[in-house]
Amino acid sequence: MPPILELDGITKRFPGVLANDHICLTLESGEIHALLGENGAGKTTLMNILYGLYHPDGGRILVRGKEVKIDTPNEAIRLGIGMVHQHFMLVPPFTVTENVMLGVETIKNGLFLDRESVAARIREISQQYGIQIEPGAYVKDLSVGAQQRVEIVKILYRQADILILDEPTAVLTPQEVEDLFQVIRELVARGVSVIFISHKLKEVMSIADRITVLRDGRVVGTTRPAETSPAALAQMMVGREVILTVDKKPAQPGDVVLDVNDLQVFDDRQQVKVEGVSLQVRAGEILGIAGVQGNGQTEFVEALTGLRAVAGGTVRILGRETTRASPRRILETGVAHVPEDRQRDGLVLTYSVADNLALNTYYLPPFASGIQLHERAIFASAGELVKQFDIRTPSIQTLVSSLSGGNQQKVIVAREFARPIKLLIASQPTRGLDVGSIEYIHQRLVEKRDQGCAILLVSPELDEIMSLSDRIAVMYRGKIMDTLPAEQATLEKLGLLMAGVQPEG
Ligand SMILES: Nc1ncnc2c1ncn2[C@@H]1O[C@H](COP(=O)(O)OP(=O)(O)OP(=O)(O)O)[C@@H](O)[C@H]1O
Ligand SMILES: [Mg+2]
Repeated sequence: MPPILELDGITKRFPGVLANDHICLTLESGEIHALLGENGAGKTTLMNILYGLYHPDGGRILVRGKEVKIDTPNEAIRLGIGMVHQHFMLVPPFTVTENVMLGVETIKNGLFLDRESVAARIREISQQYGIQIEPGAYVKDLSVGAQQRVEIVKILYRQADILILDEPTAVLTPQEVEDLFQVIRELVARGVSVIFISHKLKEVMSIADRITVLRDGRVVGTTRPAETSPAALAQMMVGREVILTVDKKPAQPGDVVLDVNDLQVFDDRQQVKVEGVSLQVRAGEILGIAGVQGNGQTEFVEALTGLRAVAGGTVRILGRETTRASPRRILETGVAHVPEDRQRDGLVLTYSVADNLALNTYYLPPFASGIQLHERAIFASAGELVKQFDIRTPSIQTLVSSLSGGNQQKVIVAREFARPIKLLIASQPTRGLDVGSIEYIHQRLVEKRDQGCAILLVSPELDEIMSLSDRIAVMYRGKIMDTLPAEQATLEKLGLLMAGVQPEG
């Protein structure tokens, strides 16, 4: 039997970048093939070509042994190829059902495809694969994890048998990852073949049949989990040894920087999402907030940073009340924020890399005096940050929207780290970053801490929380279940607290 999919010498250029350089890759029927590579290595580009979004400058694509031209996503779907994108492609004001219906032929056998039958089919798929989803919910009200489930259901609805998942787990909790893997295995058992992109080496080792590593647009090699290790994969990706653990000294906590008292926050539907949270973060310490996504962390951080109204309680930063302050005023008290949804809250996609790097400081010296902007200073600083944070971009004038996902994240982190700050609120700061970049960001976080910055780290990644935090607070249903010193926090204890159970003793 020929492979279900064969990419033969695929080449793709963008201005100033050779994103794919004669890439050859095969996908066997029923295989889970993982694609690994640094931020900007060319993974998404290759998948976009396969999905008909980009057209290759060279090379051939064969599906079930036959050469095909895939000019549009519709053509890809017709060939049985479905893709869940790194950045979701959903329409927020529409319901789940409406999103699933989008782009599907709405007339079949002379009958209009009605909402009710689509919703019924969604419920069927959701039961069959154990995917929790509410057909009538509005996408804008859903957590990122739930939005991803909509994307997957959308593809299953279209009956694809080649499934491309571009960093599906970047936004998921450990439990959701388990659930997703269950779904993937179920799909494979029914004859679906999967290309799975992830930066998480452990995941790749556990789910993949084969692993192909890209670097700088080229294939470095293909291997199998049994023949490799996370360290060996990291080395293949980055081309050097990567230290996968964080090296840090005990914290030297100073004065209270963030003081939250009995905070109450509602979500967009006026449901209580944060219910009486009190906590403090001191200078020179990292407080990690663990919790299954959707337990109020998002609303909590939005309230602290002025992006969401506070319904009750107080927030003080460096002794000053900021409970109802604007985002800009909060920022000016010395707060940096790495937001959870990088494309919505973190970047202006239609601006250049340089302008995004200056987004919070462009009106201040040395970048401006009065209403006069000093482009040269903005560019010099941008150039420096691009170097330091290893942001892969053809130039600082490049639009941030054309950067790879991980490099967009690096732009935000670089910008937020660059200012003199007293408090850093970081939601999933390493989401979507490759192992080399994670190593770098983790070192910089610890360095910030050691310089006396107070850090609130929110992450569904227990590994990240446990390796960076000095204290760990677990959030469950809008409340802090407990706060533990890092040395007392075991996976088991945190797991129980995250499920709302107080461990014995
Ligand atoms: N539409 C575009 N216009 C210009 N350049 C692009 C475009 N899309 C991607 N690139 C460039 O192609 C290269 C590969 O990007 P790609 O998104 O494929 O990387 P990736 O491996 O998916 O990285 P990540 O892990 O960060 O998602 C990058 O240098 C990126 O800047
Ligand atoms: Mg990508």
